[in-house]
Amino acid sequence: MNELTNDRFKGGMPDYLIRHTTFRQMQIFEAVVRLGSFTRASEELFLTQPTVSTQFKKLADAMDLPLLDQSSRKLKPTEAGEALYRAIRKIFDTMADLDTFIAELKGLRRGRLRLGVITTAKYFAPEILGDFCRQFPGVDVSLKVTNRERILERVQNNEDDIYILGQPPEKSLNLKVYPFAPNPLVVMAGVNHPLCLESHISIQRLSEEPLISREIGSGIRDTTMRLFASHGLKPKVRMELGSNEAIKHAVVGGLGVAVLSLHTLVLEGDNGPVDVLDVEGFPIERKWYLGHSKDKVLSLIAQAFLEFARASEPVINERMRSLYAKFSQRHQAKRDKHKLSG
Ligand code: PGA
Repeated sequence: MNELTNDRFKGGMPDYLIRHTTFRQMQIFEAVVRLGSFTRASEELFLTQPTVSTQFKKLADAMDLPLLDQSSRKLKPTEAGEALYRAIRKIFDTMADLDTFIAELKGLRRGRLRLGVITTAKYFAPEILGDFCRQFPGVDVSLKVTNRERILERVQNNEDDIYILGQPPEKSLNLKVYPFAPNPLVVMAGVNHPLCLESHISIQRLSEEPLISREIGSGIRDTTMRLFASHGLKPKVRMELGSNEAIKHAVVGGLGVAVLSLHTLVLEGDNGPVDVLDVEGFPIERKWYLGHSKDKVLSLIAQAFLEFARASEPVINERMRSLYAKFSQRHQAKRDKHKLSG
């Protein structure tokens, strides 16, 4: 190694980075790029906007290259910015793993657990998390709930320790998965919808009804559209909404029918304003998948959560089985009453 190289890389680290960059700047840069906004980054980090801008600029000066693409209207990193973002993510992940490891060496059940789950898992994940946190009160938990497309992006960026997906991920994703409790899709309508009195409704008949669909990027939407397509049919999508709860409200408001996970009805049960229709081919039996990156050594906490979640499977199985049975009984009673009055 010549002298120049020695000067630039002390202890294997570029000297200009040691002198001119801080973890705080990296944290700010990471948040700005991830959230796509200086305002949101300052909110998340509880910092003022001028602090965020100043520290961001200092980091860009240290790199001696623009980090944001000024030509784009949306906040977008340049090639250098993207490379820096990836490097920072690696550094932060390593430091967080170190923190968990040290905590475990100290014999403390302390550390963090980051979960990324698809929308329907929010109907059970907080419950498991509640039990888990009671058992491990020192664990900091973050739960990100979003649609399939966004979860797959999070998998690629290695943003979470454990993921819950609604269908198996593509083989190319470096994810170890464990099939887990049932996640059936059913057709929903408001309790006064005329189809509530019918049995064995065909997919053809369903395709004539206005459908309230989830947004593009949703796993539920993909599965639903595939089912219609496999019958050579196209549903009449009346409206697209990005939230399961908003769709339930639209269904109750009489705007149409919808295909959603039966889990979305767990709180109101079969006595609420939403009914489950008897449509051929439904429920679409699906499972959830718990997963984690194959490259990552799981922390003890993440391992404990994985076991904890898997142990809750029988409870979830039973919940789905009994809820579906209740809707079927309710149907039968409704049809019998209708026949009598007719
Ligand atoms: P989605 O996934 O939120 O992407 O529709 C939910 C599911 O697959 O159950």
